[in-house]
Amino acid sequence: MFFQLRKATLADQAHLEDLIARSSRTLCAPDYTPDQIEAALRGAFGVDTQLIIDGTYFVAESGREILGCGGWSRRRTLFGSDAGTGRDGTELDPRTEPAKIRAFFVDPAHARRGIGRALLERCEADARSHGFSRAELMATLPGARLYGSMGYTARSPVHYELDPGLTIEFVPMHKSISRVD
Ligand SMILES: CC(C)(COP(=O)(O)OP(=O)(O)OC[C@H]1O[C@@H](n2cnc3c(N)ncnc32)[C@H](O)[C@@H]1OP(=O)(O)O)[C@@H](O)C(=O)NCCC(=O)NCCS
Repeated sequence: MFFQLRKATLADQAHLEDLIARSSRTLCAPDYTPDQIEAALRGAFGVDTQLIIDGTYFVAESGREILGCGGWSRRRTLFGSDAGTGRDGTELDPRTEPAKIRAFFVDPAHARRGIGRALLERCEADARSHGFSRAELMATLPGARLYGSMGYTARSPVHYELDPGLTIEFVPMHKSISRVD
């Protein structure tokens, strides 16, 4: 691999915010309007520092350059940054509830090189080692292509309200992670 994975730290936060904005503005452009992307960057997309504190958010880096990020969570919040609405930090019961897959973003210059897949495999393995047998997430349309290729099943798309009168299409997805395929 031309990159390594490591846990994100709070010191990465400014780099992550920059990466997430660049990733969204380029890689989401075929699926969403600029207004949708800019509104999503104010809450639906971004860093959730709780994941960094929990040690469940990862970066892919080459040298000192961060090329991608993504994580999982043992908490109830399904998506969104620190600025997102409807956050719920209560802990899930791994015996009965699915872990959440959270906030995957790859540098557009390094898209389709396996970074998203590697981050997802790491998250699933970590969640499995914490006792979870299922994972779920709320995917963007670009994200649904990655997760679909990794065995996630889509439910009916939802139209999430970003701002009054402005919605965005997301896809709820889920997968059994109880065994390694
Ligand atoms: C979704 C995203 C994280 C994927 O990251 P990535 O590193 O480019 O993905 P990978 O290279 O690991 O792709 C793994 C597989 O997913 C599928 N896939 C990923 N991107 C795809 C695309 N644009 N079109 C079709 N299939 C795609 C392919 O099957 C691919 O395997 P292949 O390249 O061997 O055909 C990246 O496109 C991104 O950052 N998008 C913008 C932000 C976003 O929407 N994030 C998702 C939040 S839920």
